[in-house]
Amino acid sequence: MSFSERYDPEEFRQNGHRLVDQLADYLLRLRQHSDEEKVLNYRSPDDSYRLMNELLDAPNQPDVTSLFEPFLRETIRMHHPAYLGHQTSVVAPLAALSELVGSVLDPGMGVFEQGNLGVVLERIITERLAALAGWPEGASGFLTSGGTLGNLTALLCARQVMAGGDVWKNGNGQQQLAFMASEQSHYSFDRAVRSMGLGENGLIKVPVDQHYRMKPEALEQCLREAQKRGTKVLGVVASSCTTATGSYDPIGPIADFCEANKLWLHVDGAHGACVLFSKKHRHLLAGIERADSFIVDFHKMLMTPKLVTALVFRNGQHSFETFAQKASYLWEQDEEQEWYNLGKRTYELTKSFMSIRVYALWKAYGPAVFEENVDRLYSLAQ
Ligand SMILES: Cc1ncc(COP(=O)(O)O)c(C=O)c1O
Repeated sequence: MSFSERYDPEEFRQNGHRLVDQLADYLLRLRQHSDEEKVLNYRSPDDSYRLMNELLDAPNQPDVTSLFEPFLRETIRMHHPAYLGHQTSVVAPLAALSELVGSVLDPGMGVFEQGNLGVVLERIITERLAALAGWPEGASGFLTSGGTLGNLTALLCARQVMAGGDVWKNGNGQQQLAFMASEQSHYSFDRAVRSMGLGENGLIKVPVDQHYRMKPEALEQCLREAQKRGTKVLGVVASSCTTATGSYDPIGPIADFCEANKLWLHVDGAHGACVLFSKKHRHLLAGIERADSFIVDFHKMLMTPKLVTALVFRNGQHSFETFAQKASYLWEQDEEQEWYNLGKRTYELTKSFMSIRVYALWKAYGPAVFEENVDRLYSLAQ
């Protein structure tokens, strides 16, 4: 086979048809013969390691169906009706197809010159999420690769805005800076503050009640004790919801505290801000309209392939402060904000065409599809 044949459109067409048939048969079989199919054909890590080595060392196998067959056999089957757990909901086949479009086109999303429509979509999606959160015009954000990175980026922005100096340029300085989050908050915050050079004291853990929700009345004491130690607290994270127990922190009272003490309020809605789409469960986020930033993962409860995280700022201008750094080979007029050159505001420069996955579902089915999924999953859990 010559090198150029690897890019042969007709070969792609044939392979694509066969592969989609194979995947559709796989989905159909899980639906119609779920009693005969396991959710997981388990193989130990060491055995899997051996298998994959053997497969790679065996003669090349260009046939597209046998190429992927081991993965259809052994990867956990999230479309199996008996599949339960692992936090992320099941990918809608249309969103998977959009991923194929995104991968064939494969533009980078860091700069408008490459990402054009995908970049614009990121603005539109985050503006619509902001509207659902009850935020005024001027709120906006972007998509990023996962909740962990979304939370880190939010805290980096909060630090730059709240620390009272140019931390991005000069570093953290002498005073210990910190954020507060519940004992049950996701470990990404612990990683975020350590990555920001704040050490383990960069995260103050606030006690929770018997339902694992932050006790807002405990914030005052945590803040006073931190101040006594000479720590400057910059903000509070509300978990909406926690990973282990699905508990929603009471955002309203936390927002009262943040307003009274001039602190940034970030809502970690990686898992649970999906209820923005649900009339029935939206009340769990009461108070989010007063937050400064939030994230929501479409790849958790909103049916897209991994990863698609939206990071939204109530004051969209703040997002331009996070990385006040020049990259002259990418953008000429560095003084300008250029909302459409996303790499100025995202931790990543190159990132995948993730907005097309959200677009596909939103455009084809309307946002009601997210509401239906969230309501269905929440009622299953109850
Ligand atoms: C509440 C919460 N925040 C953040 C994250 C991190 O998200 P990701 O796994 O997309 O990095 C998770 C993931 O489990 C989560 O449950």
